[in-house]
Amino acid sequence: MRVTFITLALLATPTLGTAEGLLQEQCSSCHSLSGPAPATAAAYRDRKGPDLGYAGIKYRAEWLEQWLQKPTRNRPAGMFYGKHIKTSPKGDVVDKASLKPHLKLDAANAKAATTALMALKEGAERVKAGDYKTGKISLSMGEMLFDKFRGCLACHQIEPGYGGVSGPEVYTIGKRLQSDYLVSFMRNPKLWEPKTIMPARKLKDRDLQKFVHYFNGLAAEDFQ
Ligand code: HEC
Ligand code: HEC
Repeated sequence: MRVTFITLALLATPTLGTAEGLLQEQCSSCHSLSGPAPATAAAYRDRKGPDLGYAGIKYRAEWLEQWLQKPTRNRPAGMFYGKHIKTSPKGDVVDKASLKPHLKLDAANAKAATTALMALKEGAERVKAGDYKTGKISLSMGEMLFDKFRGCLACHQIEPGYGGVSGPEVYTIGKRLQSDYLVSFMRNPKLWEPKTIMPARKLKDRDLQKFVHYFNGLAAEDFQ
């Protein structure tokens, strides 16, 4: 691990000048920085990291800058769960040893990378500013909707260790992602990820709003 850290520190220095250069050199081997999402099931499965070409309309800048300095796992079974699940006597479990820690940036590079990422806005026309209207829902009502009525818990964790592992956890979504993006994504996941395994449920606008209220409520809880 120590060797990796030193290598990264060395790599980071010459790119300090241009943040775009930093993204290109250190991130583009795993993340697409522009255009279209994987169009085949194989490309979707083999993708090494989430697409960042629309980072500026998806992520919250404050979260990005912190996360890049102290990355945590958002997808309990990695980018594609099928590659990180092993069978055990207890059923299928996440093969943690197959998941690598994410590269870390120092404060200056995290700031520069965040500025460059927030400028990436491909597909901005899919998000309507103000689509999400601030509101509230109790955590128990939110959970009922997420788990019992819509079956989302099968793929998403609502607290560490509780819920399915094939999708990103949702208990930090309120800190991570922009609310208007969330509404757009849940309204039509295939618009963003044509090959996603997330089913298109044709959720009513009322429910889309409630889900975002719920995520924002969860993010206010102190799970970590
Ligand atoms: C070796 C491959 C690899 C490299 C290099 C890499 N990443 Fe990642 N990145 C990943 C994977 C895999 C994930 C998903 C981790 C997870 O969700 O647990 C990820 C997740 C992320 C996320 C969180 C996305 C989300 O939706 O949760 C951001 C932001 C990110 N990377 C930015 C960067 C930046 C900026 C760089 C370059 C400085 C970079 N990454 C370099 C593989 C990589
Ligand atoms: C079959 C598994 C599955 C089910 C069921 C499912 N999702 Fe997902 N969801 C995913 C995956 C996988 C992703 C990540 C996008 C991708 O890589 O395809 C995702 C992404 C998301 C995101 C964006 C999160 C992020 O970090 O980018 C939200 C929000 C979301 N799902 C909400 C829901 C809601 C609400 C439901 C129930 C109506 C639901 N999901 C049901 C698998 C699922």
